[in-house]
Amino acid sequence: MSQGDPFEAPHGYSLRRLQIDSPGELDLIVSSSMKTVLDTIVELEGSEERARQLIPNFSHAQMRAMYARDLERPDSHQFVVAATEAGEIAGHAIYFLRPPDPHAPTQAAPSGYLFTLYVDPSHRKRGVASSLMNHMISWLEARGAALIEAHTHVTNAPLIGLETRHGFAIVSKHEKPWPHFLLQRTTAERRS
Ligand SMILES: CC(C)(COP(=O)(O)OP(=O)(O)OC[C@H]1O[C@@H](n2cnc3c(N)ncnc32)[C@H](O)[C@@H]1OP(=O)(O)O)[C@@H](O)C(=O)NCCC(=O)NCCS
Repeated sequence: MSQGDPFEAPHGYSLRRLQIDSPGELDLIVSSSMKTVLDTIVELEGSEERARQLIPNFSHAQMRAMYARDLERPDSHQFVVAATEAGEIAGHAIYFLRPPDPHAPTQAAPSGYLFTLYVDPSHRKRGVASSLMNHMISWLEARGAALIEAHTHVTNAPLIGLETRHGFAIVSKHEKPWPHFLLQRTTAERRS
């Protein structure tokens, strides 16, 4: 990956939007998103049975329906995938542009939210996630989001490491529903 071009993906990969008319791509992303959530909750709760009890409505169909709704809002809801030259999906990032909130004076400008970032284990440590992260930051900043937030489980060290390398800082820790950090990245701070 060239250091000079933050949009560039590592050699052998390219970034593009999820193909809305490809049910296979959507299902793949739902499956890997669900797996990471379930793995984390099992890790925090001790067993899959316990995790399932705590999130009884967490199903492929429910998550797919949510993603399908969000895919209809490309101005604010981005689904970006990293694909190999053979067309295999190696990773994805889902992020949102949040409108200004007239009721919250500190949120007078749009902000960004990193909903999820995932790279398949067989494609890790090649810079795929970094390229997705750079793409997200540029897309959100171009739309006026100087602040980007993410909630990340406290046990997800690789993702927290990636986020901090891209300018995010942990601002608070929360215990419910599972221990997680709120991380923020502020463009103005980084430029000062
Ligand atoms: C966190 C995660 C996204 C990182 O993906 P990745 O593609 O491996 O990330 P990158 O390759 O950009 O960076 C990871 C490491 O590889 C290194 N790296 C990048 N390119 C490299 C290369 N060409 N050669 C060697 N190392 C490289 C990076 O420096 C970084 O090193 P570090 O971990 O020692 O700091 C991935 O581990 C993952 O998907 N984890 C699960 C995330 C999850 O739970 N998501 C759901 C949350 S809701």
